[in-house]
Amino acid sequence: MSRVLLTGVRGKTGAPLAELLVARTGVEVLGGSSDPATVDAAGVRPTPFSWDDPAGWPAATDGVDAVYVVRPDRADAPELIGALLDATAPDTHVVLLSERDADQVGPDGWAVRAEDVVRGSGRSWTVLRPSWFMQVFTDPRFYLGRLRDGGDLPFVSGGASVAWIDARDIAAVAERALLDRGLAGQVLELSGPGSLTLPRTAELLAAATRRPVVHREVSVDEAVAGTEGFERELSVLTFERVRAGVFAPVTGTVERVTGRPARSLETFLADHEAVLRPA
Ligand SMILES: NC(=O)c1ccc[n+]([C@@H]2O[C@H](COP(=O)([O-])OP(=O)(O)OC[C@H]3O[C@@H](n4cnc5c(N)ncnc54)[C@H](OP(=O)(O)O)[C@@H]3O)[C@@H](O)[C@H]2O)c1
Repeated sequence: MSRVLLTGVRGKTGAPLAELLVARTGVEVLGGSSDPATVDAAGVRPTPFSWDDPAGWPAATDGVDAVYVVRPDRADAPELIGALLDATAPDTHVVLLSERDADQVGPDGWAVRAEDVVRGSGRSWTVLRPSWFMQVFTDPRFYLGRLRDGGDLPFVSGGASVAWIDARDIAAVAERALLDRGLAGQVLELSGPGSLTLPRTAELLAAATRRPVVHREVSVDEAVAGTEGFERELSVLTFERVRAGVFAPVTGTVERVTGRPARSLETFLADHEAVLRPA
């Protein structure tokens, strides 16, 4: 029996990852959440886990063979991740959800510092570096309402493309990385199967929603309006990276690791038709 702790089990990658792991025999899935009463995925053991409550980490990590760490997007993430790993047994395998080309991310190399903590932890590790998630289009906190209303798609692109990735494919890679130590010591740059301009992305969204969605190029200031502090700083750098084309390259890593091609944006949109185009 292998015991796996997923931080962020209710999140975009955590939820599909839990489904994959529960379907395996011999895997006990601990679903970490800061609100464990809301964890209702079948076969998952709700597990109190909050980045704000280190006192709960020894219980959450007790007897765990592998841990999936969804990096918290806050300034102290490197220190928090280091402290969490200190609470794990030395033979625990760690899979970190980082992001594409993380060497360039964040103030003072914040993202690479978070990765370095994992690489230097003495634990075996795998780092996942995904591109932008397709799930931003079905998340009510991002674009969903606007798309359903047939609004515009405001996005900073500078003409660059984005190789959107389906979080289900990140989960599929994470499943392998958690259970198969053959991926230990690897940094996996993950993307979807195609690199799309924002106008082309908007065309596909318009077809899926049957609404007149068009891309509207916005300034970085407009894109980050309403955020402040570290979140703002990180968002500004992220959009600058989009403009620099960091999210454009297609990698074949999903297929190499899972044995099947990454899902296209068309497939993702078809699978989420009920959300995008409610009756
Ligand atoms: N979205 C993208 O396009 C994208 C692209 C590349 C990389 N990433 C990276 O992927 C990571 C996840 O981002 P996401 O937007 O997809 O978020 P997400 O995983 O969908 O949601 C965030 C998760 O954090 C958990 N959480 C919130 N407060 C918490 C706390 N105090 N302690 C512990 N857990 C807490 C939430 O679960 P509970 O409320 O149940 O605790 C939730 O599961 C981030 O590091 C992000 O930078 C995202």
